[in-house]
Amino acid sequence: MEEAFERAYCFELADKLEAERDLTDEELASVLLCDYPGFDEYLAEKARAVREKYYGKSVYLRGLVEISNICKNNCYYCGIRRDNANAERYRLSEEQILDCCDAGYDLGFRTFVLQGGEDPYYTDELIVSIVSAIKDKHPDCAVTLSLGEFEKESYQKFFDAGADRYLLRHETADKEHYEMLHPAEMSFDHRMQCLRDLKDIGYQVGCGMMVGSPYQTAAHLVKDLRFLKEFKPEMVGIGPFIPHHDTQFADCEAGTVDMTIRLLSIIRLLLPDVLLPATTALGTIDPRGREKGILAGANVVMPNLSPSDVRGKYLLYDNKICTGDEAAECIRCMAMRISSVGYETVVARGDHVSFSME
Ligand code: SAM
Ligand code: FES
Repeated sequence: MEEAFERAYCFELADKLEAERDLTDEELASVLLCDYPGFDEYLAEKARAVREKYYGKSVYLRGLVEISNICKNNCYYCGIRRDNANAERYRLSEEQILDCCDAGYDLGFRTFVLQGGEDPYYTDELIVSIVSAIKDKHPDCAVTLSLGEFEKESYQKFFDAGADRYLLRHETADKEHYEMLHPAEMSFDHRMQCLRDLKDIGYQVGCGMMVGSPYQTAAHLVKDLRFLKEFKPEMVGIGPFIPHHDTQFADCEAGTVDMTIRLLSIIRLLLPDVLLPATTALGTIDPRGREKGILAGANVVMPNLSPSDVRGKYLLYDNKICTGDEAAECIRCMAMRISSVGYETVVARGDHVSFSME
């Protein structure tokens, strides 16, 4: 009897989340911890209905260019952290980055995401030059940067040069947890300040966290969800934590596909019009992880456009998928995966659309 009551309570919370686009922290914790069969399908069905109401069956493509795996930071979880002497380092020149974007354009990409470690080689001036060159050549495209933490003046320069969006995962909304994942030289407050600066400037901002990162509890995830609801980012990037053998978290367990999928559905219901990628990390822990992500409310995928000779070097975690394929092959494979679950990849900038009038 007791169990039937608890089960009904969980499903009612899913209904409430759908109707009110929010829950109390306690209720969110119950949704995260619910382990009744059929619950994830129930939640995913609601998340799918919401994403289809706003975005139909379209899945937006972002062409990811991993510009450098050189990083001055030492995040404990990250395979390209400064102190990993075994990482084979590379960086792309401005010309190589532009070549990737040109090739991506011909393949149908209308958003380029430049991601990399915090590599001082890329000065403000160089980033400005790269962004301007991409926008000059492809004025119909959006440029997203994901290059870590800068001061507001630098973010402003990149924006003025034409950058449209910025991805900077908050990693965790709990300061103590942040300090367990990063060395003392890195600051939770600064990361959060960066996110506020980016929003102030006018970027479409993406934040997010790893699922199942070391020491993470349900209470931390509730804090993350509360932060997302209040900060209202245009994009949310989440993916499972996956250990990298050359880090101090080498023996930690990876995040699970089930919890990642559940969080994707919850985030879709909390922020109905958000841009939500099904990430490579999700595809790494489960061969059909990205398809499952799409079916749980995700509406973005980010095929890799990096030159094939450096792909195998941008290794944040072990067993990363898609490190061998050519860009054209990647996009074909992605389109097939997406259509196999009844959705379609589209050639469009895929900007965030605000439906707040409803
Ligand atoms: N340097 C930029 C920054 O700090 O935002 C962008 C690159 S960073 C490698 C991109 C994201 O990779 C991080 O925000 C983190 O969430 C994710 N990441 C790093 N190590 C990971 C791991 N072991 N498993 C899963 N995701 C990881
Ligand atoms: Fe800098 Fe991972 S530690 S990108």
